[in-house]
Amino acid sequence: MKSNESSDWVARSLRSVWHPCTQMQHHETVPLIPVSHGRGVWLYDMQGQAYLDAISSWWVNLFGHANPRINAALIDQLSRIEHVILAGCTHAPVVELSERLGQLTGLGHAFYGSDGASATEIALKMSFHFWRNSGQPEKTGFVSLQNGYHGETLGALSVTDVALFKDTYAPLLRHSHQAMSPDSRLAAPGESAETYALRAAASLEAHLAAHADTIAAVILEPLVQGAAGMAMYPPIYLTRVRELCDQYGVHLIADEIAVGFGRTGSMFACEQAGIQADFLCLSKGLTGGYLPLSCVLTTDRVYQAFYDDATARGFLHSHSYTGNPLACRAALAVLDIFEQDDVIAVNRAKAARFSELLGEVATHPRVRNFRHTGMIWAFDVDDAAPGFATEFHHRALEKGVFIRPIGHTVYFMPPYIIEEPEMRLLAQTTLTCL
Ligand SMILES: Cc1ncc(COP(=O)(O)O)c(C=O)c1O
Repeated sequence: MKSNESSDWVARSLRSVWHPCTQMQHHETVPLIPVSHGRGVWLYDMQGQAYLDAISSWWVNLFGHANPRINAALIDQLSRIEHVILAGCTHAPVVELSERLGQLTGLGHAFYGSDGASATEIALKMSFHFWRNSGQPEKTGFVSLQNGYHGETLGALSVTDVALFKDTYAPLLRHSHQAMSPDSRLAAPGESAETYALRAAASLEAHLAAHADTIAAVILEPLVQGAAGMAMYPPIYLTRVRELCDQYGVHLIADEIAVGFGRTGSMFACEQAGIQADFLCLSKGLTGGYLPLSCVLTTDRVYQAFYDDATARGFLHSHSYTGNPLACRAALAVLDIFEQDDVIAVNRAKAARFSELLGEVATHPRVRNFRHTGMIWAFDVDDAAPGFATEFHHRALEKGVFIRPIGHTVYFMPPYIIEEPEMRLLAQTTLTCL
């Protein structure tokens, strides 16, 4: 496509599309990339320039753009049923997906939403409603973690702790308590990540000890707080929080929207702590980055508390596209790829190789807190000037790499199909940009 046609798409987009998480005026200086197509880890703009999608298109893509196996599943599903109301009807993809997710997690009841934030809303409402149905209507509070992120809708924002996203809407939000973050970077000098995590858990315990009778649930992002700038913490924190939730009679909601499906090195992050949440929120990688679908998985105990003659004791929550068959087929294709390609084991080897290739980045004089969990790498740039993230993004784009730092944190969350030459490009580009 000619350059004037491509810039015409950009101009039309800026006139008619209100882009997410964006101060639109910034696009007076920051270019918008008009994407024409994608293949594997690559995005192509309308003039044929390729960009390595180093953040998996907002952490959703697992097996590359235009993946032939997921495409084939969707094409097949299109000829059967594209969508059908899930109240009063069911279909094979949603049944199979629920059964397979149940087998993988031990949580046998799947409730579907569309985006991640709708899963957060479902989990919060379900937890509250469980306690109400169980004769404890005073359990209405939620505890989340400092720097936690659970989405942008009002309920999800109430348990989110990212000032830039939350402060403006504070008058609209319900109060929730934010417990100390287990982020290993916050450990005192000489204190191990584990000791610090247990200190954070002890402070959560103090809060639960005083307020558990009014708390419905603790919600957290297991192992990696993504939007906080890929803050990482050890599994022992999760093990301890599970014990505390049991001890104080509070639900544990694991928001694995960003970290589920292999991102932390195991299929689900909770596995590394040997725990099961009362509610597990999934989205993003669930469909391999193809279609909006989210899911809240829960226990028999929770499910049974809603199973009753009285309609109002049921969970009367819905979204029009709940359990969309196309999205469920994409998710089934994703689970097939995990099984057929032994993805978790293959990723382990890839992650080790990429970490090696990032050796020079990790020891670069501007780099602080280089960290890595599974298929996520991050580091902070201490002397980052204002505008660092935009500048870094720009410079990387010039080298054919799409990265979006969060503040002074640069991170990589590539699709799992990334190969050595692309890892090298990513490492080299990062060094050049630094
Ligand atoms: C941990 C976590 N929870 C919830 C969400 C919200 O998901 P969505 O943007 O699909 O609403 C996100 C999105 O980044 C997330 O990282």
